[in-house]
Amino acid sequence: MASARGQFSSRFGFVMAAAGSAVGLGNIWGFPTQAASNGGAAFLIVYLILAFTLAYPALMAELIIGRHAHANAVTALRGLSHTPAQRRFGGAAGTIGFVVASLILSFYAIVAGWMMAFCVSSITALLGSAAATSWLTSFGFMRNELGVLAFMGLTIMIVARGVQNGIEKWSERLMPMLLFTLVVLVAYVLSLEGAMEGLKVYLLPDFQRALNPDLIIAALGSAFFSLSLGVGTMLIYGSYLDDKQNLPLIGGLVTGVDISIAVLAGFLVLPAMYVALHNGVEIYTAAGDLLSEDTLIFTVLPELFASMGLAGTLVSVLFFFLMSIAALTSSISMLEVPVAYAVEEHDVGRQSATYAIGGIIAVFSTIILLNFDTLFGLVITVTTRYSQPLIGFVFCIYVGWILHRDQLLQELRKGNPDIERGLFWKIWPWWVRLVCPAIILAIFARSLLA
Ligand code: TRP
Repeated sequence: MASARGQFSSRFGFVMAAAGSAVGLGNIWGFPTQAASNGGAAFLIVYLILAFTLAYPALMAELIIGRHAHANAVTALRGLSHTPAQRRFGGAAGTIGFVVASLILSFYAIVAGWMMAFCVSSITALLGSAAATSWLTSFGFMRNELGVLAFMGLTIMIVARGVQNGIEKWSERLMPMLLFTLVVLVAYVLSLEGAMEGLKVYLLPDFQRALNPDLIIAALGSAFFSLSLGVGTMLIYGSYLDDKQNLPLIGGLVTGVDISIAVLAGFLVLPAMYVALHNGVEIYTAAGDLLSEDTLIFTVLPELFASMGLAGTLVSVLFFFLMSIAALTSSISMLEVPVAYAVEEHDVGRQSATYAIGGIIAVFSTIILLNFDTLFGLVITVTTRYSQPLIGFVFCIYVGWILHRDQLLQELRKGNPDIERGLFWKIWPWWVRLVCPAIILAIFARSLLA
């Protein structure tokens, strides 16, 4: 029933929510460190090209299926199908999508819980409580579990309120806050001794490193993760859009915001590392590469903050607050996928569906925590490396081969009557039909061999 479904109230609200989903831990810690160790500005150029040639067209596929069907991925793919086999296949792909979204959330909540713990630990440090600070910053089951529960609690509270009052309203509040915090941190860090060294590493292009094929494949994968593709998140957000919206434009805005924030985060993280070096913190591995990922966030940066005295503690509160917000606007988009499915296909109320599914995901997170060494990396690999590209492939196939060309045109014309004359209509339909599936298969084959 279309009338009972949620809907975004404005274009701004949608762009904040979809960009909120896209901008997450991947942008703020993944992109900058990858760029730093893989050719600086040259990596940036490769990433930009891939974002616009693969991720943007795939994003458009999800938005169009979603808005066309005004339904969750399972219902939408079944509805588009012409034969019983297609129906079964579409239903299965949609179902795998919401299971994968839930699994991604179960590890994401663990990492987000760490961010929250580090944010609170900077406050307890300010208050002078050494015991609490050290408990919050040491790896342990209780600390991790409390982080998961707190973070899932926030996610559930927002999603339970629905599309307009929950997701849209909170994205509109949190995203400007995120941008503001990021800009303040960038300005501050760039004023510190050593920052310029980091800028050089970030901005001087080294094409030799950036053109290595393995690296291009890695960049492709992270562009996909970064735009939240291949689980039905963007599809469900698209399904809450009204017919007046110009989809190619809106998709372009979301892609643009996602990339800009990743690039901006580079102006924070890289200079911060070299400020840390200047203050005597180790930032290279034994092999001479830059430290990255978890060591960077949970060791290098805290050491840097500690070396800066009171100002450092304040910056630390802000930094981990920024990370927590980025994670929250992403996690609500993950939880919305299974919740929308349960509400639409099984006629459960939104509140009960949100609490029940959120609770199950928190249990998954707990299971991962109890078997951390085996499960944590495994769940990340299975979901992001294999499942996301494969389901993204299915979405492209449905838009490129199963949806008729005139249906596609009709859908796009709704928000843009002149679409036929534009460049988008000349390129995108065959691009999503041939080029996107081919590239995704190539990445997939490559990652299976690797
Ligand atoms: N894009 C987010 C990030 O960069 C993560 C994310 C949100 C996501 N929703 C998703 C990833 C759905 C995969 C699928 O951190």
